[in-house]
Amino acid sequence: MDVFRIMGGNRLSGTVRLSGAKNAVLPILAAALLTGEPVVLKNCPRLKDVSNMLAILQTLGCTYRQKDGEIAIDASCAQGWEMPGELSKQLRSSIFMMGSILGRFRRATVTYPGGCEIGLRPIDLHLSGLRALGVKITEAHGMIYCDGSDMRGGEVQLDFPSVGATENVMMAAVLSKGQTVIHNAAREPEIWDLQNFINAMGGKVNGAGSSTIFIEGVEQLHGTVYSPLPDRIVAGTLMAAAAVTGGELELDNVRPGDLAAVNDKMRQAGCAIETQGARLFLRAPKELQPVRISTQPFPGFPTDMQAQMMAMACLAQGTSVIVENVFENRFAQASQLRRMGADILINDRTAVIHGGKLTGASVMSRDLRGGAALVIAALAAEGVSEVGNVEFIDRGYEALENTLNALGARIQRLS
Ligand code: UD1
Repeated sequence: MDVFRIMGGNRLSGTVRLSGAKNAVLPILAAALLTGEPVVLKNCPRLKDVSNMLAILQTLGCTYRQKDGEIAIDASCAQGWEMPGELSKQLRSSIFMMGSILGRFRRATVTYPGGCEIGLRPIDLHLSGLRALGVKITEAHGMIYCDGSDMRGGEVQLDFPSVGATENVMMAAVLSKGQTVIHNAAREPEIWDLQNFINAMGGKVNGAGSSTIFIEGVEQLHGTVYSPLPDRIVAGTLMAAAAVTGGELELDNVRPGDLAAVNDKMRQAGCAIETQGARLFLRAPKELQPVRISTQPFPGFPTDMQAQMMAMACLAQGTSVIVENVFENRFAQASQLRRMGADILINDRTAVIHGGKLTGASVMSRDLRGGAALVIAALAAEGVSEVGNVEFIDRGYEALENTLNALGARIQRLS
């Protein structure tokens, strides 16, 4: 278990070029199984979640090469439809494989997925979506058996715009005869990116980015070269890190529209933000102001930035309120922030944060974004902090310490 030792109080300043988004790369890797021809992905981050996904694809018979941010996958020899149990437990995205395995093999056996412990994270919407396409699903002994021999296009009505369920249904529908319509689909940019990737392989998907997605089944897909969209959550995390240190940051390769809700709250906190094409500039204020945040599915404020904003709110002059609407148990970082002196009151899904000063302490990451929040807090805290369980952070940030150190932070990784 690695630990970050962080010396607080160093002002961040400089430029970072963003890599592809974890949450775009993972479903795209799953979708690569839908073609027997080679797929090449550019500008991919080196993350634990990505290597787990590649290991899953490998056990299904795919081969891959990974070099300098490029991943080449060849699924021509894929033959397995049974998801490896141990790996799927480590990674929630393994559930996205259900749709693509079904698309390719018309049957799939998967275990219940793992991932961060940030709530119940049931998969009922994934299963009901696939059932609407004619998949017969039985669950027994912790396994899910899917029979897609009668799979065809269908009308899918999601009770909640789940990102994963939308992606799963899209992948299952691409090679199914007839038209599929997904109502109340998730509108996240990563869904739009998955649509573009599938279409680059010869699929017929449209509507992604809106609440209704149309998928016209095709006979087969072909290989392609694709660059997943940049990581808006890494962007937001670095913005928060710069903001708490009174610093300034230039981000390159951003899609400002994807960051609208985050930018809005950064401005509420007093940051000056300007965008110019694919570049974004942030300048922190002398004193951070409190924020009011309510997480929502896109285009609302992303739950994946909630913890980082809580760390920022701990340093603001005044009282902030954060409501977490997407996951029911996503304030694990609060108890650790309190060890650094934060004044946070939590009642169910609402957190009230009285801003002030933080002091260095020894804390533990409990989940990916919560871990990033602790790093942000430590950057602004007085003295030295140690953030444990860095493995959580590595799931979604490629060598975060190097990125931040290049901006002027002082972070040491202890193994
Ligand atoms: C994805 C993202 C994750 C992000 C989340 C919300 C990936 C790999 N992960 O996760 O980083 O935090 O979107 O933006 O892209 N739900 C159900 N039943 C289901 C599915 C979901 O009740 O079958 C609930 C969940 O418990 C949660 C809410 O719906 O409360 C949102 O989940 P969902 O959008 O599915 O998130 P993920 O796809 O798991």
